[in-house]
Amino acid sequence: MDHFDYKAGVLHAEDVPLPEIADAVGTPVYVYSRATLTRHARVFRDALKARLPRVHIAFAVKANPNLAVLKVLASEGYGADVVSGGEFERALAAGIPAWDVVFSGVGKTTAELIRALEAGLGQFNLESEEEGHELADLAEARGLTATCALRVNPDIDAGTHAKISTGKAENKFGVPYDRAADMFARLAARPGLAMRGLAAHIGSQITTLEPSRAAFTRMGELMRTIRSQGLSLTHMDLGGGLGVPYKLGEQLPGPEEYAGVVAEVTADWDVTVMFEPGRVIVGNSGVLVTRVIRVKPGVTAPFVVIDAAMNDLVRPAMYDAWHDFLAVRPTGEQAVANIVGPICESSDTFAMGRQVDTVRAGDLAVFRTAGAYGATMANTYNSRALVPEVMVDGSRWAVVAERIEPSTILAAEHVPEWLD
Ligand code: LLP
Repeated sequence: MDHFDYKAGVLHAEDVPLPEIADAVGTPVYVYSRATLTRHARVFRDALKARLPRVHIAFAVKANPNLAVLKVLASEGYGADVVSGGEFERALAAGIPAWDVVFSGVGKTTAELIRALEAGLGQFNLESEEEGHELADLAEARGLTATCALRVNPDIDAGTHAKISTGKAENKFGVPYDRAADMFARLAARPGLAMRGLAAHIGSQITTLEPSRAAFTRMGELMRTIRSQGLSLTHMDLGGGLGVPYKLGEQLPGPEEYAGVVAEVTADWDVTVMFEPGRVIVGNSGVLVTRVIRVKPGVTAPFVVIDAAMNDLVRPAMYDAWHDFLAVRPTGEQAVANIVGPICESSDTFAMGRQVDTVRAGDLAVFRTAGAYGATMANTYNSRALVPEVMVDGSRWAVVAERIEPSTILAAEHVPEWLD
């Protein structure tokens, strides 16, 4: 459920007609609904809290790192899951305390480890034994202790797009399942590390619960093996990955069903269960608003050329992802069309041969479910602007990330004098 609805034939974000924003800010522009964001944050949190005795939820900042979005989630009691120093600073800037932050990622640099350690990070999710020993050295040299979980690769196929699968043995994430117990013991012997748990994340946009159930079950078995060695485990991080419906009317397991599976598998674990959701929290709280530049006849179907491109929303080009395309002022007519952006690549295609609302030059349209991995993956390819972001709250709205114009980017480039 979201708060993007037609009122008097015009698509609104909560109480704000989208043309009002498009006219004031220009297009393309991401528009987020605060009410939708809050609702999803609560539904996910409450479903887990109702079934599990101890829960920690860290929003995967990569899904939408906008400061205003993080503020809303912080106010709902969310911590943060970060994968870079930049994301860590954003989480702190949004008021999320360092102790409420989990640091994931295979390539944490020495500088990032030191910064997080000295700031009092909540949990490092170690992705290799080497990383653990480096962190232990850094902590011991400073008289500090780093709180850690070991990220394990459970070798489970999440059944999602290959580019967003992370839990198969051949993926770069985590340590091999069979070696994890010995590694955990060696790391737990280091005075600089407080090894308190295990972590797993098998992929993103997971649309059935069976792979998650299988992965959680394997993690439980590993937890028991480690405990049987006399070591203590108090935290188990089950990652993120729950998918969202991208097509109107699509039915997927939601937070309730997910929480049910987690509760069943973890019933006798006696741990704080940790989560790192991204997409399920922010996915459908955002749309990308675009304007039709022109409609050009094609051989099989017309090309609707819009002013949003793969640099603004890369998911269709990168993962063949589907985003519903709707007219902001639909006429009731529909036709088969190809929706494309202006970038000089054939992959700058949002939809081919799709039945969509009929739109004409100058009309506004949206891609739905663009709140996750949308603006955050935007770039300036073809020397285009970096897309702006707006947040709506009831009848008020504000620009929460400005458009970065090509002239600003050009101004940061320098021609050395020896080229003149
Ligand atoms: N935790 C870790 C360690 C992750 O790597 C990720 C996502 C998450 C949590 C959050 O997963 P979520 O709940 O959002 O599925 N750009 C791709 C998705 C890449 C996901 C990367 N990792 C897309 O647009 O589909």
